[in-house]
Amino acid sequence: MSVSFDRVSDIYDATRGLPLHISEQVTQCILDLVLATSETQFFEPGIGTGRIALPIVQRGYAYAGVDISEKMMMELRHKLQGTSHRLSLFHADATSLPFADHSFDVAIAVHILHLIPNWQQALAEIRRVLKPTGVFLYTHGSDRHAKPDQIDVDQYQSVGRQWRSILADYGFEPSDYGASESKVLGVLQAQGAKLETVIAAQWRIEKTVGELLDRYQQRMYSSCWQIPDKVFSKAIVDLTAWCQRYYGSLDIDLSHKNQFKIVVVKDWAFD
Ligand SMILES: C[S@@+](CC[C@H](N)C(=O)[O-])C[C@H]1O[C@@H](n2cnc3c(N)ncnc32)[C@H](O)[C@@H]1O
Repeated sequence: MSVSFDRVSDIYDATRGLPLHISEQVTQCILDLVLATSETQFFEPGIGTGRIALPIVQRGYAYAGVDISEKMMMELRHKLQGTSHRLSLFHADATSLPFADHSFDVAIAVHILHLIPNWQQALAEIRRVLKPTGVFLYTHGSDRHAKPDQIDVDQYQSVGRQWRSILADYGFEPSDYGASESKVLGVLQAQGAKLETVIAAQWRIEKTVGELLDRYQQRMYSSCWQIPDKVFSKAIVDLTAWCQRYYGSLDIDLSHKNQFKIVVVKDWAFD
């Protein structure tokens, strides 16, 4: 089963949105990378609320998106209400696309392949609907590339490690829903694609221990959705107590640098 974002559609933009100037940098980078013209046909599986699509659509480009969450796409429709645009949305699964072969010049997949158990089929579908000259832009997920400013990297990663350890004590092992980045890159390489990595933007994310804990408490991360309620309610109490002991204060600053990394995939869609 893929992971629908229905449950967070109303808070997705507030919790995952890119700062405006970063969104503009990412958009410009995408348009430059694919040498976009008014003829360019874009496609995005798992389009969500349009975090990536909206600024491209607002610049007048033709864009098609699919998602298994109607609620996520509804947020996007609201944002475009009353404007003229060339966006088409389809309630469909990325593993079975409602498009003919070779329909698109550009496919963009951002933060989605880790959610799809049959991610190999989603990749095969992207390849099928791309034109032979098409470009695939792949961003696996959020990319923390630098350590937080005031503590060492080990301390920063400790919350996640401790969370998994607490869950294991309650007999729960979180499993990955879909692909890891390295597995996707391995498949693309094995299929003869040429890969180039581009950093579209870098910015700082401000966060204290307390704010990070709050995200766990509110089950904002999709990795929290599979945990049974009984386990979750006990584990979150333990994690809060551990953070208080380990950091001494929930006000400790965990701010860190983030980057938007795009893997540019070319020469992939030939049969
Ligand atoms: C983390 S969000 C990313 C949305 C958008 N790409 C972005 O970067 O903001 C993942 C989206 O993929 C959708 N999704 C998950 N599995 C899917 C599938 N098998 N087919 C289509 N959409 C899927 C979810 O409903 C959600 O809207």
